This record gives sequence, structure tokens and C-alpha cells, in this order.
Amino acid sequence: MAKVYVFDHPLIQHKLTYIRDKRTGTKEFRELVDEVASLMAFEITRDLPLQEVDVETPVSVAKSNVLSGKKLGIIPILRAGLGMVEGMLKLIPAAKVGHIGLYRDPETLQPVEYYVKLPSDVEERDFIVVDPMLATGGSAVEAINSLKKRGATSIKFMCLIASPEGVEVVKEAHPDVDIFIAALDEKLNEKGYIVPGLGDAGDRLYGTK
Ligand code: PRP
Ligand code: URA
Repeated sequence: MAKVYVFDHPLIQHKLTYIRDKRTGTKEFRELVDEVASLMAFEITRDLPLQEVDVETPVSVAKSNVLSGKKLGIIPILRAGLGMVEGMLKLIPAAKVGHIGLYRDPETLQPVEYYVKLPSDVEERDFIVVDPMLATGGSAVEAINSLKKRGATSIKFMCLIASPEGVEVVKEAHPDVDIFIAALDEKLNEKGYIVPGLGDAGDRLYGTK
């Protein structure tokens, strides 16, 4: 069964408070999402394999570790997921980035796919699907379906805020996909928004309404 990890690091929790705050403007919101994405990338890459190498220091030879070259892929769900990509690439610059475009139909709340572009070697990569919000879970489930349909076998899902309903939907549909979040909120409202959440992530990132 999929595991759910809540990143309770104080820096993540502190920044998330200002991301939630309705008084935070677009510029600051974007910067905070970028910073939290970096911090979450640091946590989510904890289990990356290492290999020992010899390195010559100015004094002697040290046995030390480097990443063993596992291929990573970051998949933002457009559009709000884009706000998390640069922050993650600061820590894992060798990762390839694929894009999955989905929007949530405002009436049915069902995800509608409009764009998919992935790295060519899908089967060989470990993917992290990113989106600030996991609400009904429809977008996350659809994005992961889309990746699996194209051959991906190793997938994690990472978001800032999740609803309990959304987490259950993703766990049920994709028991092999672990979920990494900064906060698990209370519930969804009648419009499918996370309560208390942060509002509409895409609108807050890009200043649209
Ligand atoms: C938001 C958010 C997620 C989705 C979550 O995107 O960024 O992708 O809603 O909701 P769900 O779990 O109920 O599917 P939205 O559809 O508003 O599109 P946007 O990023 O283009 O604004
Ligand atoms: N999408 C958002 O951007 N916010 C929510 O609360 C739910 C879906």
C-alpha cells in the first residue's frame, strides 16, 4: 500500500503559512512555492542511492560518496505544478522535466488532459509528479495514469497541501505510488476546494482569476 509522508520540517511549515495567507501577493507567493519545492526536493531525495568513490583532498585520499546516477524525472501537472519545478531543479539539476497538462472541469471537477510531453526514456526513470494541490485527487490519478500508460514504473507524488479525500483516492487508484505532502488539511468544500487550503494555486501563482 502507498505510504503518505508529511514533511514537518520547520522551514517548510513556516513558509507554508505565508503561502496560505491571503495577503501574500503573487511575487512572494511564487518565491515561497519555489523555496518550499527546493526543501521538499531535499527531503524526497533522501533515499537516492550512493556509490563510494576515492577523492583526493589537499591532504590525502578520502573515501566519499556521490549519487550513483539514478535517472530522475520531474513531472509538473500544468499549470500550477510549474511553480515547483525550478525549486526542485536547483537541487537535482540533472533531472529531466516532462509536462502533463490537465485542468479540472469546473462543473464536473473531472480532469481534462490537454498536453503530454515526457522524456524519451520513460521506462528507465524514477518520476516525481508535482502539483501544489491534491484536492479530489482526479488530476493526480489521471497524471499518474498517463505516465504509467507510457511505460513509467517508478512514480512518487509530491504536493504542498492535500485533502484527506484526495489522498484516499490516489492511494486506492495507485497503491504503488507514495505521496509526499507539506500539510494534510481538513476537508474539501462543495466546490472541491481544500479547506483551509490556500485558494486556487494556479491563480495565485500567475495572478489570474
Ligand atoms: C488545480 C491544481 C491541481 C488540481 C487539483 O489545477 O493545481 O492540478 O486543481 O484538483 P483535483 O485534485 O480535484 O483534481 P486546476 O485544475 O485549477 O488547473 P490550473 O493549474 O491550470 O489552474
Ligand atoms: N485546486 C486548487 O488550486 N485549490 C484547491 O483548493 C483545489 C483545487
